[in-house]
Amino acid sequence: MQKEYKRYLITSALPYANGPLHIGHLAGVYVPADIYARYMRLREREVCFVGGSDEHGVPITIKARQLGVSPQDIVDKYHTQIKESFRRLGISFDVYSRTTSRIHHKTASEFFRKLYDEGKFIEKETEQYYDPEAKAFLADRYIVGTCPRCGHSEAYGDQCEKCGSTLSPDELINPHSSISGTIPEKRKTKHWYLPLDQYEPWLKEWILKNHKEWKPNVYGQCKSWLDNGLQPRAVSRDLDWGVPVPVEGAEGKVLYVWFDAPIGYISNTIELYPDSWETWWKSEDTKLVHFIGKDNIVFHCIVFPSMLKAHGGYILPENVPANEFLNLEGEKISTSRNWAVWLHEYLDEFPDQQDVLRYTLCATTPETKDNDFTWKEFQARNNNELVAILGNFVNRAVVLTHKYFNGAVPAIAALTPFDSEITDTIPRIKKALEDHLEHYRFRDSLKEAMNLARLGNKYLADTEPWKVAKTDMERVGTILNISLQICASLTIAMEPFLPFTTNKLRNILNIAEQLPWSAFGQGDLLQAGHALNQPVLLFRKIEDAEVETQVAKLKKPVKKDIAPALPSCTIDDFSKMDVRVATVLQAERVPKTDKLLKLTIDTGLDQRVIVSGIAEYYSPEDMTGRQICILANLLPRKIRGIESQGMILMAKEPDGTMRLVSPLEGIGNGAVIG
Ligand code: MF3
Ligand code: ZN
Repeated sequence: MQKEYKRYLITSALPYANGPLHIGHLAGVYVPADIYARYMRLREREVCFVGGSDEHGVPITIKARQLGVSPQDIVDKYHTQIKESFRRLGISFDVYSRTTSRIHHKTASEFFRKLYDEGKFIEKETEQYYDPEAKAFLADRYIVGTCPRCGHSEAYGDQCEKCGSTLSPDELINPHSSISGTIPEKRKTKHWYLPLDQYEPWLKEWILKNHKEWKPNVYGQCKSWLDNGLQPRAVSRDLDWGVPVPVEGAEGKVLYVWFDAPIGYISNTIELYPDSWETWWKSEDTKLVHFIGKDNIVFHCIVFPSMLKAHGGYILPENVPANEFLNLEGEKISTSRNWAVWLHEYLDEFPDQQDVLRYTLCATTPETKDNDFTWKEFQARNNNELVAILGNFVNRAVVLTHKYFNGAVPAIAALTPFDSEITDTIPRIKKALEDHLEHYRFRDSLKEAMNLARLGNKYLADTEPWKVAKTDMERVGTILNISLQICASLTIAMEPFLPFTTNKLRNILNIAEQLPWSAFGQGDLLQAGHALNQPVLLFRKIEDAEVETQVAKLKKPVKKDIAPALPSCTIDDFSKMDVRVATVLQAERVPKTDKLLKLTIDTGLDQRVIVSGIAEYYSPEDMTGRQICILANLLPRKIRGIESQGMILMAKEPDGTMRLVSPLEGIGNGAVIG
């Protein structure tokens, strides 16, 4: 017996606000979640569909540092862009907020504090890498060195991006801080751990025994985690970006991003329903479903439920229908290689064709294994399915009604056995569609919805009303009535998948309001005499050239984000900086580093040494004798034991590529720039 739920609390993974959305995000998480939410609303169930941006974590701080802006600048930019792209694609969130909101900081902080006060954490002191120059503990990502597996010289402390190995900073050869270039030292630091091992028996019972119905990929991953035994997990970090740890003496520590982010689902619900959010999160007749990608499974099935359990009072997810990954043209999607279809670009380049993307992504949802998106398939699905079946059927039914009946829905005269066969099929389609949607089988459900359009298309092809019109107008009326009722049912069946199209279709059929699911299949959705509007084409053919352009664009080199503009400054701000022309007298590599050059320069004022991280771009020979520009009054600092007096001005691309800035023609050393 399935439990009856009053409310559906549907969450979708909060995307990191450090880059735009691409089709991988959409196919894996947001399109399925939106279909599910829209379907449940049509079923007239109470729905709260929660989204938001995940705005903490180390990668955001790294990106900010690379671009020379603050983490807040980064998340402001991408939160706005992501939210807008979701809106344009018709993802029907009831709330879309962000983890830098005040309400989230408060909620996450109180959540932590309750667990802390009740002794639910373990406190542990460990040794972590510390950058004495930057005066900060270093996240694994901030430690760079040579990969012990493949020899790549730029491997990160958590992973080598060249060979894909998972690493720990201790394994790196010649580790150094990517902030200052110095060799990090180990220092003691205290953190709080959630003892997941204590929750293991409970998790085993809850998942392995009581949730056997979860998707095999999800269940399998949980089982493997649980079989391997769980360890306590640190829930705090030494970092200056995030929710501060609300404990005396925890300055400089924040909640681990994976601790605060899922609490964001709760915070965003509170933001939407400040008075009634608890009905959503704390009553047994609410069904909580998390839509996520496969890399999020452990956090949503093991860590977050343990947090909720430790806290008490909260319901647990009833299902976590995680998807696998979507590839693109046979290769893994890679944001750094720009091997992606970016949602905002698609929306600009294919105006008014949101549903074509929604359709193709739903049809290729990586439900049980990784799947592949190709532009050829996108074109084929549009031309052979949306245009040739759905669009064609609707258009013929409406055009013929205008031609023979002046656009007024004709009455049914008499039903033939074939008519009944057709109309009897509709409830079966409806039932199958429900069954698939209730069980998160989105590809099958889309096929079933298309079967309704196929049915209509076949009905018109078999009955050939344009021929019958020569002899029997009453029969034509019956055929068109049945066809138009199917069109009306399509406005319901297709709504979860193609909301822009069903909106257009309702306009053509002159149906004022969205019909509920219960109307699906009724034979009298349009009364005889009801006036239709003029048809508009629901879809247009996509030409070869259009998809060829898209494939060609993929092969183009990476186009990176330009650093966002900084706030205005005054001339006084600028004139505090002593920027001058100087000449390099001598240049040499700093031993045991890949990036640093030691330059002896003539500034016109004096001779001095500057250590600069340009060795990847310029050799000592390149530099000797060159005129450059420097910031002369920067406070001196020690780099690798050498005192560096000033900074060389470089033009820096978002990917880190650097070029010297120097005067176009020779000029005296010490010439002031301003
Ligand atoms: N930002 C994470 C990711 O993109 C997902 C966070 S889901 C949340 O992988 F529940 F934790 F918010
Ligand atoms: Zn490697």
